[in-house]
Amino acid sequence: MPQSDGADPIELLKQDHQKVKQLFDEFEQTNNRRSQQRIIRQALLELDVHAGIEEEIFYPAYQEAAQESEEEDIVLEAEEEHHVVHLLIGELRDMPEVDERTAAKFTVLAENVRHHIDEEEKEMLPAAKRLLGNNRLQELGVEMARRKRELTRELKQAAASTAM
Ligand SMILES: [Fe+2]
Ligand SMILES: [Fe+2]
Repeated sequence: MPQSDGADPIELLKQDHQKVKQLFDEFEQTNNRRSQQRIIRQALLELDVHAGIEEEIFYPAYQEAAQESEEEDIVLEAEEEHHVVHLLIGELRDMPEVDERTAAKFTVLAENVRHHIDEEEKEMLPAAKRLLGNNRLQELGVEMARRKRELTRELKQAAASTAM
């Protein structure tokens, strides 16, 4: 059984979280504008893909499983947090060069995302594990891993065609 295909959706999401948190740490450890720019680009791509698979696949599945339960509203707050993150991502994409303003905006994005990740890992993911059941989780894991590859390819192509 190949485990590497991300058949566990909870693990897949947690690995993504680790990756972006690492990028935020790297950003804070450098003052080099070029490195910062590279880190920002990569973080925005990772965040877009991650938010995409959550919004398209994981959140709706969670919502369905959590109906009428105490954990139902967690997803509403998560969606609002994504909304704020998407606004910041859009603004950062419109900033071609890294200056103090860009760095400040990215720092606020990082703070928001760290908080959001904490909530997902402390509340939503454990609840999802309980509510969804092994078979459904497995299905979601396969679907999410497939969609993640697809979205990464699409967004990389889109980024390459705009970055002249
Ligand atoms: Fe999220
Ligand atoms: Fe997440």
